[in-house]
Amino acid sequence: AHRAGVALDTLVRVQQDFPIPGVLFRDLTAVLANAPALADVADALAWAEADVDLIAGIEARGFLLGAAAAVRRGLGVVAVRKPGKLPGAVLAEDYALEYGRGRLEMHPDDVPAGARVLIIDDVLATGGTAAAACRLIRRAGGIVAGISVAVELPALGGRAATGEVPLHALRAW
Ligand code: PRP
Ligand code: HPA
Repeated sequence: AHRAGVALDTLVRVQQDFPIPGVLFRDLTAVLANAPALADVADALAWAEADVDLIAGIEARGFLLGAAAAVRRGLGVVAVRKPGKLPGAVLAEDYALEYGRGRLEMHPDDVPAGARVLIIDDVLATGGTAAAACRLIRRAGGIVAGISVAVELPALGGRAATGEVPLHALRAW
């Protein structure tokens, strides 16, 4: 966990006014591109102390980190996707974005009944995305074991938006 924090401190790039003016964007591509940093961050996100049966990765950056963490822990990963990408029967949840609305979809058949699911993403900002993923997992019959993110932006209130779910953040900026 310490090495993951150092990797994030060293390699996360901050970009002003992306994707829209006024946003200070934390970019993790250099963490992903660095082999030891990726391994350390994936291990820390996998949250060895948590009782977990399945990882949920949120499109798009949560796919990269979620799959890496799942492999490191010997678990599978369920894809939580943007609309219109999944071919089978889906559940859908809408959520608020800074401007407008977003929607996430999931194949409920990928979540075994009663499975304990750990949601993984790169950044927790307002928490709208993670909260929608929690609703999808519960509607599919799973239990949300926790939310694991590389970076939490506490000023944006994501911890409150995700309620009682245990939150594991490697860095808070
Ligand atoms: C970013 C990020 C999280 C989400 C966090 O994804 O990767 O999924 O926003 O924001 P929130 O806590 O306010 O919901 P984005 O919606 O930009 O999608 P992308 O990864 O497909 O670009
Ligand atoms: N980085 C990545 N994703 C995000 C951010 C950020 O700073 N803010 C909201 N989603």
